[in-house]
Amino acid sequence: MSPRTATTAVAVHPLLAERWSPRSFDAAHTLGDEELVSLLEAARWAPSAFNAQPWRFLVGRRGDPTYRRVLDSLIPFNQEWARTSSLLVAALAEERADNGVPLHGAAYDTGLAVSQLVLQAHALGLHGHQMSGFDAEVLHGSLGVPGGYRALSVVAVGALAPADLLPPRLRERETAARERRPVAETFFGPTWGTPLPAGP
Ligand SMILES: Cc1cc2nc3c(=O)[nH]c(=O)nc-3n(C[C@H](O)[C@H](O)[C@H](O)COP(=O)(O)O)c2cc1C
Repeated sequence: MSPRTATTAVAVHPLLAERWSPRSFDAAHTLGDEELVSLLEAARWAPSAFNAQPWRFLVGRRGDPTYRRVLDSLIPFNQEWARTSSLLVAALAEERADNGVPLHGAAYDTGLAVSQLVLQAHALGLHGHQMSGFDAEVLHGSLGVPGGYRALSVVAVGALAPADLLPPRLRERETAARERRPVAETFFGPTWGTPLPAGP
């Protein structure tokens, strides 16, 4: 078991327990065509309210113009480490249905699709790291995003590299303990704030 594995009261699926968001990606790794398609299929088959599938993705592999443009839209902190990932995927949500009705669940649904992509990356022995630190206006402008769509996140995917390849301040974060709010403060039973009687 890796020291990055989640500590849980009872076992959860290894895909969930062992997923984590690294910043040290192998700059020599390239993503195979089949791997790429499997990531995209994992996202495409996510559930969504009314099966509206409000998500769209802009997908760039390291070395291609889309990757460069998505990378350029990231805040400097994220650019520093994300530039060695093999793939950058910008996730966008459609804001309205064809009949003009606002798709209130679009962000929720798009997050689910991204989560599936990230877990599929892990199933392939890769890692994903989601980011909200990017400039949506820059991304929309450089990649020709039409009105009615909103970029919500960018995901870096790649092969894990040793933490000591990172600059010191990022290295510290890479190896810091992973933490979560306790179960009793997260899941409530009879009323708000009351821990579940059967909880751990
Ligand atoms: C929507 C979203 C936005 C995030 N934005 C950033 C970001 O801009 N930069 C970054 O380094 N990490 C970002 N993260 C990664 C989180 O910091 C990370 O998921 C969290 O600390 C939990 O760590 P874990 O994924 O290893 O469990 C983001 C994660 C999510 C889900």
